[in-house]
Amino acid sequence: MRVADSATVNRSDDAPVVTMVVAMSADGKITTRDAAGPRFTGPSDKALLRRLRGECDAVVVGAATIINDDPAYPLPAETRRRRRDAGRWETPIRAVVSGRASVPPTARMFHGHEAPALTFVGADADPGRVRSLAEVSELHRGADATRVAPAQIVDTLATAHGVAAILLEGGAELNFAFLDAGLIHEAYVTVSPWLIGGRAVASPIGGDGLNFSDIVPLELRALRVEEGETYLHYRVSLR
Ligand SMILES: NC(=O)c1ccc[n+]([C@@H]2O[C@H](COP(=O)([O-])OP(=O)(O)OC[C@H]3O[C@@H](n4cnc5c(N)ncnc54)[C@H](OP(=O)(O)O)[C@@H]3O)[C@@H](O)[C@H]2O)c1
Repeated sequence: MRVADSATVNRSDDAPVVTMVVAMSADGKITTRDAAGPRFTGPSDKALLRRLRGECDAVVVGAATIINDDPAYPLPAETRRRRRDAGRWETPIRAVVSGRASVPPTARMFHGHEAPALTFVGADADPGRVRSLAEVSELHRGADATRVAPAQIVDTLATAHGVAAILLEGGAELNFAFLDAGLIHEAYVTVSPWLIGGRAVASPIGGDGLNFSDIVPLELRALRVEEGETYLHYRVSLR
């Protein structure tokens, strides 16, 4: 079965569109017991991630994903040229959410890009860690001790940086914070042909989960199968 990809989300206001992207095994795991991250996916999935990064204005990611995977966010020269010609940053803004400021300032997301990096920390984050993160990124504090509200992240990116399209790259904890806040508008889900197992191994959305009365319906926008992987593109029904 193949459902053709269709137009992007229709929104009534001009708030940024948040698109979650995630790759999981056939049994719904986003990493392995030894924390290998999404290394189990094939080249088409990596190409999809590059395309989505190339299209968005900002990526938003959780501290544990940066600590485990340390992504550098490279983009092909052609994509960077197209973005520059369109008056955009060559690569997207990178924003990490790290309530306790656990993310290290040496992470590759902070270095080698013209576009700014942002760090969102909680009000009680360790001052020394916060200072060193402020040297490599634009620092924002949440109102709560160790949590930052997704609405603050989206508002800051929109008002301070003119961001219209956000790519939410996980991991599971951050994805739940956005889901719970009703701030995921689209989702790309890759189902990769592996079994991983593990009760403590993360699935795409963690946190406390939702009650049956609150579960979030999806509308399938596109489906394709390539090299054994299934690619799903959903629109998320807003609450
Ligand atoms: N397969 C895939 O597509 C995919 C994609 C992404 C990640 N992953 C995998 O997922 C795993 C990480 O997922 P995870 O759920 O453990 O972690 P995560 O969501 O990446 O990071 C969790 C951490 O982010 C911070 N955080 C998240 N939400 C926050 C909020 N609302 N306010 C303040 N801080 C917040 C906290 O940092 P502090 O500790 O600093 O407070 C928290 O400990 C890794 O193994 C990674 O490889 C897989």
